Amino acid sequence: MCGIVGYIGGQQAAPLLLEGLGRLEHRGYDSAGVAVLGGGTGRSTVRIARRAGRVRDLAESLPARFAGRCGIGHTRWATHGPATDANAHPHTDASGRVAVVHNGILDNAGLLRRRLTEEGVELTSETDTEVLAHLVARSVAPTLEGRVAEALALVEGTWGLAVLHADFPDRVVVARNGSPLLIGVGDKEMHVASDLAALVRYTTTVAHLEDGEMATLTATGFTTYRQDLTATATTARVLEVDPASYDAGEHESFMRKEMLEQPAAAERVLRGRLDDRFATAHLGGLGLDAREARAVRRVKILGCGSAYYVGQMGASLIEELARVPADAEAASEFRYRNPVIDPDTLYVAVSQSGETVDTLLAVQEIRRKGGRVVGLVNVVGSAVARECDGGLYLHAGPEVAVASTKALTTMFLGFALLALQLARVRDLSIAEGRRLVDALRALPEQIAEVLDTEADLVAVAKELAEAESLFFVGRVRGFPVAREGAQKFKEISYRHAEAYQTSELKHGPLALISPAVPTVAIVPDDELVERNVAALHEIAARGGPLVVLTHAGVDLGDLAATRIDVPRSERELDPILLTIPLQVLAYHAAAHLGHDVDKPRNLAKSVTVE
Ligand code: AGP
Repeated sequence: MCGIVGYIGGQQAAPLLLEGLGRLEHRGYDSAGVAVLGGGTGRSTVRIARRAGRVRDLAESLPARFAGRCGIGHTRWATHGPATDANAHPHTDASGRVAVVHNGILDNAGLLRRRLTEEGVELTSETDTEVLAHLVARSVAPTLEGRVAEALALVEGTWGLAVLHADFPDRVVVARNGSPLLIGVGDKEMHVASDLAALVRYTTTVAHLEDGEMATLTATGFTTYRQDLTATATTARVLEVDPASYDAGEHESFMRKEMLEQPAAAERVLRGRLDDRFATAHLGGLGLDAREARAVRRVKILGCGSAYYVGQMGASLIEELARVPADAEAASEFRYRNPVIDPDTLYVAVSQSGETVDTLLAVQEIRRKGGRVVGLVNVVGSAVARECDGGLYLHAGPEVAVASTKALTTMFLGFALLALQLARVRDLSIAEGRRLVDALRALPEQIAEVLDTEADLVAVAKELAEAESLFFVGRVRGFPVAREGAQKFKEISYRHAEAYQTSELKHGPLALISPAVPTVAIVPDDELVERNVAALHEIAARGGPLVVLTHAGVDLGDLAATRIDVPRSERELDPILLTIPLQVLAYHAAAHLGHDVDKPRNLAKSVTVE
């Protein structure tokens, strides 16, 4: 949420900053800005350009003279104050000699704003960040490092930030506390960014700052230290990343690219983790030996949004296969109800970004109370991954579109592996284990089969897009599928899409069914199929249009419905194959409505605020 870039070296900073911001735009896209240090041999000055709107708007409006070989930039997702030019970062002090970009939230900004105002400072924005610029400017410490540290000592909250100061033109000072910051080492130039996506085009030699750490970047290197200015030993290492994986390539959007990457992502998450000899899964990173796995009495899964819904799919898998009570809860709610932390419960945090602050705080709360948490996380080295006692990486590759697709699929498979491992140290027979191992192996190809039907789904998507309001319904294993389907649809099409248990419709929502309100129903060929079909008749009888995701051979009788057959897996694994067409429907509905599918309004990738 929000993106930071910075550069110091021999090249002109502004084009590099704008290019980096373009790559971070999925993290926040309501306003953007850059600051450069200019002034040649004379007295240095800070020049700032910032405005509401997209990075391309900023690029078009940049003054012709915007030279400087050192600069910082920001793309914003508004927290304090609306998306206006004045609230866009970088923020500066009254003298205009300091510029600050900041991700995160300063909890005591209100108090500090009041104090500064009382002392005669004129604040020009509604943001929390602006106070930092004034605090840095008011410090009389002899070094920029000392000034930033003194300012940070006065604020409470979270930050990833970068500071320029015209009196110290040879450096950029950065700091991290709860919001990621990475330093990229180039050839006689240094970069900083809040996300690898903005660095990979320039360098893959990267240092990750820790919480509480600061760093100084000069054109020739970087040093790291704590907020009390004592040195730390953070070093850069070469990351194995393919810069091309951060580009949309020939695809019209990242979301479409990422949907199509699902078969390959599914293969990666399974690779090396299936054991044919004992028909189980090996998840060494969990750090659970057989005895500990057997001792687990309960599983509690925590995630947000789509990660929460796939967590519900995971809970179902674990409970069915391992016969351990399991449930999922929104991490954003968990922490606030003073949860009882049970030593025999295995807590599982699930997150694509590993940055979602609600999930991170839930993990910290559990560990603070002595609970054991493992993570299913995509981004290697992210905060959630680092906070957990163990876990497994999802290997989905970079996910840029705000709407999560391939990460979600790998999460489901991660849960299937976890369920299999827990089940096979308990009562699941080797024959049953084999049934699942074989089915898991077949999934990547079956996912590809579903994606191959994309062209057939376009017309259905266009019809659904015409409705102002829709239901997505399912039962038991199918209910989280419906929730995820509704989430994806509303997120990018801006249509009201409500998920409901099929069985609950008659207890209220049936009142809303009409020819104008279509229902997308999840009807796998399982033990509930007849009941599901009966409920669909109740919808049809009220004139509600139906789209039914089901399996070939399921008899829908005389039901007037658009039917979408998906390939069969084993019952426990069917949910993921039923989820894929829902992504495709959402995508084409949004595209048909002319929306920017990668950057849905009001949202951002990685929600790093509570
Ligand atoms: C997914 O389409 C959403 N954009 C959102 O719900 C997302 O899944 C959620 O914010 C959790 O993100 P995370 O997986 O990075 O923790």
